[in-house]
Amino acid sequence: MGKQYKIAALPGEGIGLEVVTATLNILQQAAVKHNFQLQIDYGEIGQPAFEQHGTYLPEATVKICSSADGILFGAVSQGGLLELRQKFDFFVNLRPVKVFPSLINNSSLKSDRLTGVDILFVRELVSGIYFGASGREEDDRGSYGYHTMQYYDWQIERIAQVALSKAQARKGLLTVAHKENALPRLPWTKLVTKVASAYPDITIEPMLVDNLAMQLVINPQRFDVVLAGNLFGDILSDLGGALVGSVGLLGSASLNLAGFGLYEPIHGTAPDIAGTNKANPFGTLASAMMMLEQWGETKAVKDLQQIWNLILDRGYRTYDLYNHKSEIAIGTQELVKLFLQELS
Ligand code: IPM
Ligand code: MN
Repeated sequence: MGKQYKIAALPGEGIGLEVVTATLNILQQAAVKHNFQLQIDYGEIGQPAFEQHGTYLPEATVKICSSADGILFGAVSQGGLLELRQKFDFFVNLRPVKVFPSLINNSSLKSDRLTGVDILFVRELVSGIYFGASGREEDDRGSYGYHTMQYYDWQIERIAQVALSKAQARKGLLTVAHKENALPRLPWTKLVTKVASAYPDITIEPMLVDNLAMQLVINPQRFDVVLAGNLFGDILSDLGGALVGSVGLLGSASLNLAGFGLYEPIHGTAPDIAGTNKANPFGTLASAMMMLEQWGETKAVKDLQQIWNLILDRGYRTYDLYNHKSEIAIGTQELVKLFLQELS
């Protein structure tokens, strides 16, 4: 008998429900084929949790997560997610952006600019402006609000360490997003360079985040690993969605020092298509594949990747990807069926 894993499933809201269900169906079949077992415990989070229990992240959900080997998350519109990230100190957010050859024409960029694009965004996830002092006040000039972008040096150094080791295992280029011409008290370049003295083979490339956004569009092929703080990483990684053609394709892993993780698609709740069988579950499946990878179930990951490529090569496209008569439009459920067929 293969290994047994416990998944805490937190579908959340909107299309979160559909994409998590779809992904778990596929995972269960992959488990049968690749000889491992999954136990799935569901937890509430976000708006539905608030309506039921008056809190976005109920204690019961935290408990389910604590005893799991990984957390599979769908989407929430507000509340719950930031608390969850902070609770388990998921400071490492990995967001891979890799172009799928058969979807190269889905991007708004020209295909010759996209071939081979393979970027890993490493985003700091539990500090920065999301978690700094904030408030709403009033003085003689009127009402005002503020959020503070605060980082301890050690918080920058520990995420730098992760980004450097990722760059070491890849092409050896680490681009560091910063805004030191306006925010000099947050010296990302200096702190990352200090940590990088232990990594002589890595090229460190500090880049002002505004210029970095432009360079990602002009020449995405030149990038390898991009390190960014919480807010800049959030914005830049959505740009990654535009590069690959749909934000619905991108998954992520959020990890703590122990390697325990929360796996979630990059997209949101998409209330406009929720419940209509139009959601693309691949972002969630891609996240789940990062979870399997983290567990060492490499064969299953390769298999799922191959099946996805096969499905795309045969012309099947979910709603967000469909753009030509020669393609076959399919819904969430039909995509699951195609996966199950290939896995059985
Ligand atoms: C993401 C999302 C979240 C974030 C929101 C829902 C708070 O946009 O995971 O990218 O900004 O981190
Ligand atoms: Mn985002």
